[in-house]
This record gives sequence, structure tokens and C-alpha cells, in this order.
Amino acid sequence: MPKEMLPVVDKPAIQYVVEEAVAAGLTDVLMITGRNKNALENHFDRMTELEATLEMKGDTQRLKQVEFSNDLADMHYVRQGDPRGLGHAVLRSKMHVGREPFAVLLGDDLIDSRDVLLSRMIEEQNSRNASVIALMEVDPSSTHLYGIATVENTGTPDVVKITGLVEKPAPGTSPSNYAIIGRYVLQPDVFDVLEHTAPGKGNEIQLTDALQTMATDNIAGGVYGVVFRGRRYDTGDRVDYIKAIVQLAVERDDLGPELRPWLKQFSADLD
Ligand code: G1P
Repeated sequence: MPKEMLPVVDKPAIQYVVEEAVAAGLTDVLMITGRNKNALENHFDRMTELEATLEMKGDTQRLKQVEFSNDLADMHYVRQGDPRGLGHAVLRSKMHVGREPFAVLLGDDLIDSRDVLLSRMIEEQNSRNASVIALMEVDPSSTHLYGIATVENTGTPDVVKITGLVEKPAPGTSPSNYAIIGRYVLQPDVFDVLEHTAPGKGNEIQLTDALQTMATDNIAGGVYGVVFRGRRYDTGDRVDYIKAIVQLAVERDDLGPELRPWLKQFSADLD
């Protein structure tokens, strides 16, 4: 199954991402999918048979949950075709987006809904009229897994100006430990830059490379970073995926009270 459909507690990972967009006021969602990703479209579509069965059984609670994922946002889909990198995937949204700022949310990265990120980025995009990316300080041993930024202070504590970007630097060569996490609020000018961006790391068209051009050539206001210090889960990593499920489940009112004491006992027994 597509990794975006893996359940995190009791919802597919992708639903958290769509809910995050909606919570920040973004209800027009274009999903860039690929081969074997039909399950994603089906998840956000009506499930008439299931709805009818639940209605017949009088299971209004579950019926509400099913309807919730259908009515969440105005969903659109486009297939990427050849998987030629994140920059290429973003370029596929050009027609849909038009000439307005837009947000990019990567399906692997989950941001805990109790921590604010996307709405803060939209605010900064609006007031600075520039592109904004999300950054997180990571352990120097994992900088080779991310796009890495060189930054300058702006005077606003959680906002930095981006002076350079490099996609997945080789271990020991990273210019900083400010890693790009999968949230971007971009000026539409990025499409023009992407069209002229040559394949980079992994022979793929990299969004990081296009943003590096926008930062150094100061295109459409340049690029700023919002530094996130909240909870982020990388569901593409197996250990992180398990941690996400446990962390989210213990906080839930319906599951936490039973799970917390069990977990304490379980971890005590590990010793
Ligand atoms: C992508 C981006 C990278 C970014 C990362 C965040 O890489 O290319 O710059 O740091 O997402 O998750 P991927 O993880 O898709 O290889």
C-alpha cells in the first residue's frame, strides 16, 4: 500500500496532512500522486456502500468519521508521471495554482496539530511578500538526509533569512544544522525558476536547488525560514513512525487513560 495510507493510530498519515492544511485555512488541496496511489483518491472520496451500511446499523459515530474525511477539503489530483524529483512534482501544480502564493506539504512529514507551523509561515509569507520554508535544527549526524540552509538573523526570533541552500550535503560538509522539513509557502515565481532548474542530487529536479536560486538572486522577495521547535514525525522512517503512533495515542482522551499505565508498566518491564 502507498506509505501515505499507513494508519497513524486510526487515520492514514495523509489525512493528518490534509487536516493540517485545512486548519491553516487552506481548503483547496491538489494532491500530486503517482502510479499505485489510487488508495489516496479513494480515501477522500465518498464510500457510499460503507455509509449506507453504517446508517442502517445506526452507527452514527463511525458514519460521522467517514463523512468527515470526505468533506474535509476541495480535493484535486494530478499524477506526476515520470518521478523526476520533488521540484518536478511541484511544477506539476503550476496550472492549478496560477499566480498566487501556495503551500507545499510533503506527505512523509507529520506536524503535531498541537504545535503551530503552517499558519505562522503563511503570516510571514504575507507580511514579507517572499517565499517561506520550515526549518528545524537537527543533530549534525543526520544533516545528509535533508536540504540544509545557511541563515542570517532577522530580528524576529523564529524567523531567519536564507542566504544559501544545499540538498543533502555529504556527511561532514554541511554548512549548518538547519534542516528543511516538508513545509513550504512559496511565491508562484518558483515555477519559472523550476522550469530552468537542471537535475541535481540523484539526477532529480530539486525544489531545494530552485529555492537556492530564489534566495541568492533575491527573486520575488527572496526566501525566509520559520524555525520550528515543536513535534514532527517522519513517517518515512520506521522507528519514527512507531514513535508517532505512541506519542499521538497517549495524548488522546479516548485512548490515553488506558494506554498510559500500560506503557509505564511495559517500559518498566523492559529493564
Ligand atoms: C525532501 C527534500 C529535502 C527535505 C526533506 C524533508 O527530501 O528534498 O530538502 O529536507 O524532503 O523531509 P526527501 O525526504 O523527500 O528525500
